Amino acid sequence: MSAFIEFLGNISWWGWILIILALVAIRDVFIQKRHTISHNFPIVGHLRYWLESIGPELRQYLVANNREELPFNRIERSWIYASAKKENNYEGFGTDRDIYAHQHVFINNAMMPFKIEGDHPNVKDHTFLPCAKVIGLHHKRKKPFRPASVINVSAMSFGSLSAKAVESLNKGVKIAGAYHNTGEGGLSPYHKHGGDVIFHFGTGYFGVRDKNGQFSMKKLVKLVEENPFIKAIEIKLSQGAKPGKGGVLPAKKITKEIADIRHVEMGKDVLSPPSHSAFSNVQEMVDLIEAIAEKTGLPVGIKAAIGKLDQWEELANIMKNTNKGPDFITVDGGEGGTGAAPPSFADHVSLPWVYGFSDLYKLFQQHDLTERIVFIGSGKLGFPAKAAMAFAMGVDCINVAREAMMSIGCIQAQVCHTNRCPSGVATQNKWLQKGINIPLKSERLAQYFKTFRKEFLEITHAAGYEHPCQLQMSDVDVNVDDQYLSKELDKTYHYQKTPVPFSNMASIQDCPYLGGISK
Ligand SMILES: Cc1cc2nc3c(=O)[nH]c(=O)nc-3n(C[C@H](O)[C@H](O)[C@H](O)COP(=O)(O)O)c2cc1C
Repeated sequence: MSAFIEFLGNISWWGWILIILALVAIRDVFIQKRHTISHNFPIVGHLRYWLESIGPELRQYLVANNREELPFNRIERSWIYASAKKENNYEGFGTDRDIYAHQHVFINNAMMPFKIEGDHPNVKDHTFLPCAKVIGLHHKRKKPFRPASVINVSAMSFGSLSAKAVESLNKGVKIAGAYHNTGEGGLSPYHKHGGDVIFHFGTGYFGVRDKNGQFSMKKLVKLVEENPFIKAIEIKLSQGAKPGKGGVLPAKKITKEIADIRHVEMGKDVLSPPSHSAFSNVQEMVDLIEAIAEKTGLPVGIKAAIGKLDQWEELANIMKNTNKGPDFITVDGGEGGTGAAPPSFADHVSLPWVYGFSDLYKLFQQHDLTERIVFIGSGKLGFPAKAAMAFAMGVDCINVAREAMMSIGCIQAQVCHTNRCPSGVATQNKWLQKGINIPLKSERLAQYFKTFRKEFLEITHAAGYEHPCQLQMSDVDVNVDDQYLSKELDKTYHYQKTPVPFSNMASIQDCPYLGGISK
């Protein structure tokens, strides 16, 4: 035995390397049966798998140009990072975009910009930009709500995001006077740090479900009574990344905390079916909306990605005939994000935002309903020029999900579905979350929102207006094809926006329903 140990001790370091390589080669050729490449090319085949696994990082850091990556290119990400850190977010020497490219957007500037002077609210606060409409006013809800910020945090659950990320977002919206949408995973303790909250539920009814997984009005009413910072309720019909796709919360992911927040049992898989059990048709959905509004006093809206229009037509008819229905509609684009979705859904099901929203807005306009509804848009709209286009098309507010994640440190690693998010934002791994400094990250979210609002106001003023709700379709052009190069939005999407009633910013400042800290 001692001779054998002595023999091993005499093997040089390169001898050990040769032995290990020989063992790997034996495993590749004779033992493993899963990988043909490793079998046919023992040892070197591993190099191919390794390069493939680090390919995304190599391309992101070294190869891709500034405007090449998706969902968000380097210039877009850098703008969010710099804005969130209050660093210099300008670019020098002029644009590096091909401004003749298809779908490029231009805002038509006025000869002379809108002037803010005297005691105008924006003289004191360059970032004051509340929603021009009050949610729930038309339907005379008991507690109407005017969002104090036109940019807000979109639905993302505790569960898909880490506890520290959710807490950073909530504290951030409080500083910025925006609202925070809970996402489907219920109201967690991390949503209770003072920001306005929109409580969102989907087909799993997490946080407001009974023992059989059915919607419980009693639980919703209790939740709203106990948490007065909940300003509105959103019923999720679908989201752009996976419309009509249900989900499973596997038993092994259900911790005691998640079970308590979502009102689910531990040790059992929990299903979110593709469709709602609380209603089966459009009329029943309207009845549920009205019942929730009546019982909670809060405005109630729906969130959806757009495809076919027949059921929306039915909704518009019901709204017109009964004066009932959603107080707000959140339109999510097919380009929207998700914690996890099959690529076949994320890439192909539901329309991109511009097509989906324009179809829907036109339909509600034909029924003379646009003034009753607060339209919220989401789908990569968290950039001032994109938002200007969305407002010109008829939105009253925008929601941002991934842009908000980036402002608190997300690096677009695109591994939200693996629980291995390196920035700690979209993982439940305690170690990975440890690096998140909540006071710093909440300031960053707030600063991103404030910088966004400041630049958005500057663009609005350049177009000759006081508030972005005044932007009309003809104020924005989009490159549509080679023949005409660019067309105004109304000529591209074939409608004119209904003017939003707006007197001036000072009157909004005094609104009794104004949310956030600007009150
Ligand atoms: C991590 C993550 C989780 C999400 N969770 C939900 C959800 O629970 N419910 C929902 O309706 N949308 C959810 N979404 C979609 C977003 O709310 C939003 O509609 C979409 O990402 C488009 O916005 P964005 O382009 O600013 O990211 C999620 C998105 C992400 C990235």
